[in-house]
Amino acid sequence: MTTILVTGGAGYVGSVSAAALLAAGHEVVVLDDLTTGHRAAVPSGARLDIGSYGDAPAVERLLLELGVEAILHCAARSLVGESIADPGKYYRDNVAGGVALLEAARAAGVDRVVFSSTAAVYGVPDATPIPEDAPLRPINPYGETKRTFEGALRWYGEAYGLRSVSLRYFNVAGATVDLGEDHDPETHLIPAVLRAVESGGPLTIFGDDYPTPDGTCIRDYIHVADLADAHLRAIEATAAGDARTDGGAVVCNLGVGGGFSNREVVAAAAAVVGREIPFTVGPRRVGDPPVLVAAADRARTVLGWQPKYTTLESMVGSAWAWRLANPGGYQD
Ligand code: UFG
Repeated sequence: MTTILVTGGAGYVGSVSAAALLAAGHEVVVLDDLTTGHRAAVPSGARLDIGSYGDAPAVERLLLELGVEAILHCAARSLVGESIADPGKYYRDNVAGGVALLEAARAAGVDRVVFSSTAAVYGVPDATPIPEDAPLRPINPYGETKRTFEGALRWYGEAYGLRSVSLRYFNVAGATVDLGEDHDPETHLIPAVLRAVESGGPLTIFGDDYPTPDGTCIRDYIHVADLADAHLRAIEATAAGDARTDGGAVVCNLGVGGGFSNREVVAAAAAVVGREIPFTVGPRRVGDPPVLVAAADRARTVLGWQPKYTTLESMVGSAWAWRLANPGGYQD
């Protein structure tokens, strides 16, 4: 049993990961300021502390008081468009706040960190599937700030012995029975499709003139429950004496290693809800690479991870079931 601080544990990925850690017998403390997270998403069995991970003195006190041994750092600003309009917010929270968290951890003697990183660190890749050692050329402040924090983890590892795993998420989707995706604003494709089904409102596919078989972008979708399982394995890999993190920092893509087009996502959703989903094709969205697919071998070999829910039906179906059970989301 390990005592783990989960920053952003009231958010989509953080809450499902916190639930996976609890189910594996760990003790979980959620630190979340509830600006984008939901109190109701914090799994029962976890303690909730409302506050900022960037408040180093308060975090240091919390780590020491509760005997925290490892940190799962999921909290962040994570909207690509917003990051371009307001990079200051991203540097303040994702970089300065993140470093404050690392300093608090160092002061409290916590030397194990798992970090929510992103495929956005790659920018527009030269080739797919994208291996972890592909060049990092982010094309927006969101990806740049995540890359910067990965760098901090690496150098803290070299100098201070920090053991870390950065998990570069591709496109996270789906829900568990209890926990789902409730963002405002919501910019992701699968929730946008399901919202259109619920409201009868418009759905726009951004571009169908990409160099892909059906002309729409292709993404590597990973079920949030599989993602959470990888977090549990990554936390275990940071344990003292575990050879995998003896060298400091490890980086793993989290994707399935295959992709689905935007049209395939809409078709899968139509099959799940049992009716046609009308959409219009609009112009391309700025900054969308045509194809983003992970080289997914490292997570399998290093973490022993194996995704269970790899079909679009399982991802869209579980997301739809959660929305039906929670109309309007978490209602807070
Ligand atoms: N899309 C639409 N209509 C919508 C919403 C999305 O056509 O209403 C399209 C997008 O243009 C894109 C695809 O659906 O082609 C997937 O878009 P998402 O917004 O769901 O996800 P992204 O691939 O843009 O984002 C993911 C991660 C980000 C990360 C980014 C890196 O969710 O965190 O990859 O490029 F930054």
